[in-house]
Amino acid sequence: MSSSELATPSMMAATTDWPAPVSHIPKDVFLRPEIFEQELKTIFYGDEWMVVGHSAEIPNKGDFKTFAVGHVPLIINRDQNGAVHVFFNSCTHRATQLETASLGNRKSFECPYHRWSFSLTGELIGTPNKPGDYPEYFERANFPLKSPKMAMVHGLIFVSFGNPPPIEEYLHGWIDQIAEVMGGDGNLRLLGYQKVVFKANWKTFTDNDSYHAPLLHTAFRMLNWQGGRGVQMTDKRGHRGYVSELSLPKSVTMLKDPSLIEHRSTGDLSRASVNVRFFPLSGLTRHLDSINLRFANATAVDSTEVHYAYFARLDDSEELVRQRIRQSSNLLGPCGMVSMEDAAVFHRVHIGSNTPGAAVFLKGMKDEYTLNDTYTQNDETSNLPVWDRYCEVMGFHRKAR
Ligand code: FES
Ligand SMILES: [Fe+2]
Repeated sequence: MSSSELATPSMMAATTDWPAPVSHIPKDVFLRPEIFEQELKTIFYGDEWMVVGHSAEIPNKGDFKTFAVGHVPLIINRDQNGAVHVFFNSCTHRATQLETASLGNRKSFECPYHRWSFSLTGELIGTPNKPGDYPEYFERANFPLKSPKMAMVHGLIFVSFGNPPPIEEYLHGWIDQIAEVMGGDGNLRLLGYQKVVFKANWKTFTDNDSYHAPLLHTAFRMLNWQGGRGVQMTDKRGHRGYVSELSLPKSVTMLKDPSLIEHRSTGDLSRASVNVRFFPLSGLTRHLDSINLRFANATAVDSTEVHYAYFARLDDSEELVRQRIRQSSNLLGPCGMVSMEDAAVFHRVHIGSNTPGAAVFLKGMKDEYTLNDTYTQNDETSNLPVWDRYCEVMGFHRKAR
């Protein structure tokens, strides 16, 4: 399967007027349906690696989860030998979506339409039929489930529909930080999910910055985000990350039980918040003891679905697992103390983008025509190399100065 097979037919290349300053983002790129369709073709079905899950979500033989990249449905499963696979979630007969549950366990996948069934390694193993139902040239061996390209790093599962570089090259410089978010490696145990649909364009979700953390979120003020000595990192592929210092308040007046915000897993408050965000979408976060992998999908020009998956480590004590559960369910996600305001503000960005002009980045800018390469914890300028990469992939050019 190539990206051109997944493209919207007869689509004209979308264009937009891109202002000359690197800090100005034209608002129409968040709104125009034809730009979204081009993003699916060029970015999501192109040569990027997309994060779709973690092997700890499907720990047992026969486990599967479903997810999607754009409009393309996927099954991610573990076979009887323990190997992980990704298949297009589509029967090879007449394309019916095979599985609809978000998580499950199967001995085989059976299509409900005409009851073809497939093994956990994708072979077509059952076609209920009488002699003469199928032509002589029909052979089951020619109809296995199809797969996108797949790679795994510390249990993180990536897929690509195009011709991506090797995953180690794609994630060059980030693999140690990915491990740090997870507490050292990919030996995780799924605790549960919070799932949310943001009524906003996917780029509004991915454009979420460090600057806002203590301003929008009361709880991050409590953790002294604004006083932190953290750093942010970017690269030319559009990945970015940050490592932030948090400090716990001497007296907690906002919480009945201050132990909720204790940091127990590493004890290093100078790296209490560690994040990696992959281009174009999805990312990993550890705030205090909560290990949170965010599997995101651009479902429409004005809709972004995010599955916040929370994990403990397999070698955690029961006491630490309890602490991770408390922080996971109380700090992050759509109802978390430090991020529940994001959904509202993303939607308001989307509504407000129906106005003339450009969105403007300022916090941390030195010169509006030049990208920075170093950042403090609270700068918003680390978002701009991501926009630069977006323009490069989409073929959008800034006006001359
Ligand atoms: S579409 Fe699946 S068996 Fe016919
Ligand atoms: Fe936020």
